[in-house]
Amino acid sequence: MKVKRIQVKSAAGKYSVLCGTGILRNAAREIAKLGKFSSVHAVSSPKVWRATKKIVTCVVPHNVGRNLHLFNDAEPKKNMRTAESLCRSLTRAGADRKSLIVAVGGGVVGDVAGYVAASYLRGVALVHIPTTLVAQVDSSIGGKTGVNLPEGKNLVGAFYPPRLVLVDFDLLRTLPDREFRSGLAEVIKYGIIADQDLFEYLERNMEKVLRRDRAALDYLIPRCVQIKAEVVSCDERESGLREILNFGHTFGHALESVTRYRRFKHGEAVALGLMAAALLGHEVGFTAADDVSRIVSLVRRLGTFPTGPRVTPKTMIAAMRSDKKSKAGKLRFVLSPRIGQARSSDTVPMSVVESVLNFFLRSARQTLAASGKLHG
Ligand SMILES: NC(=O)c1ccc[n+]([C@@H]2O[C@H](COP(=O)([O-])OP(=O)(O)OC[C@H]3O[C@@H](n4cnc5c(N)ncnc54)[C@H](O)[C@@H]3O)[C@@H](O)[C@H]2O)c1
Ligand SMILES: [Zn+2]
Repeated sequence: MKVKRIQVKSAAGKYSVLCGTGILRNAAREIAKLGKFSSVHAVSSPKVWRATKKIVTCVVPHNVGRNLHLFNDAEPKKNMRTAESLCRSLTRAGADRKSLIVAVGGGVVGDVAGYVAASYLRGVALVHIPTTLVAQVDSSIGGKTGVNLPEGKNLVGAFYPPRLVLVDFDLLRTLPDREFRSGLAEVIKYGIIADQDLFEYLERNMEKVLRRDRAALDYLIPRCVQIKAEVVSCDERESGLREILNFGHTFGHALESVTRYRRFKHGEAVALGLMAAALLGHEVGFTAADDVSRIVSLVRRLGTFPTGPRVTPKTMIAAMRSDKKSKAGKLRFVLSPRIGQARSSDTVPMSVVESVLNFFLRSARQTLAASGKLHG
């Protein structure tokens, strides 16, 4: 069994991300290295627990009884009420300051369990076991936790790094195809912003990747983890470099918001956002035409996307301005000067943003959308 160990630096100390197929078999030993805990509590969703418990029982026995805290991980349940009910469930189970919370799930479970771990008794130890591609390459690393408010996504939260992240590719076996493909949008993003070789690998091997070929996952997932780890180790609180991880996300978040988070998976909106960001880069003389066409071709190999919304560029721009990442209403875009590099800019003229949005919204309603969802 090949295990890759990647270190992440955070203000609270270093932690490891262990990646590999079957690594959960040795997880109990890795967790024991963190110290002694008075009790171990798993936080997951009924759906994820059903799909993964056979693999996860090496860490958390499946008969953990009252130490198993399940909640519905649909995005609308990622809220304060769920966090409160998990905290109460922990209290009833006798969790104390020396307890450990193990989050088993995708980004929703990780964000909520992370927020609970940060808040319960002012902070208890946290281990992530991510079960979606998005969670394995992105959300479990970097310490961002949080919940949504009716007013917007992720508006309440904390930076709370885990003590350990266990990324076992076996867990992806039960992941629905649409979830896997949308996670690949984040993988493509890493190639565009930081690693030309990764991008070329995807160009050469997309069919294998879509089949979840073991060797492909063995290469891709640790590479993405490594990129994210390097970026957040330099800039944990997103004061500079970490912004590049938002490539494609200014458009993506706006698409999700104008469709009220119902039409697109996050990765699907990001996939469309990657194309829009490449076009925008070209319009301001930053991204070469050849790179734009490579990005568009690669993203299109993920499948077709839900039909784009019937909204005007102005509505999209308003959504972008209200994104919590825009500073004083100023729009910031991450652009790629060439595949493998990215930097952010707040000087893109609004007339250019509007004309790209015009073209992009039209394509997203026609050529890019076909069946109404990504299909295999
Ligand atoms: N904290 C961060 O840095 C960060 C980064 C990116 C995204 N996020 C957050 O992550 C969330 C999205 O996470 P996601 O894309 O992982 O999706 P998700 O957590 O919504 O999971 C997607 C679906 O897959 C199911 N599922 C999960 N693992 C499974 C498995 N192994 N087998 C079968 N089914 C499985 C879930 O029950 C769910 O229905 C959003 O709320 C987003 O805001 C956070
Ligand atoms: Zn994302």
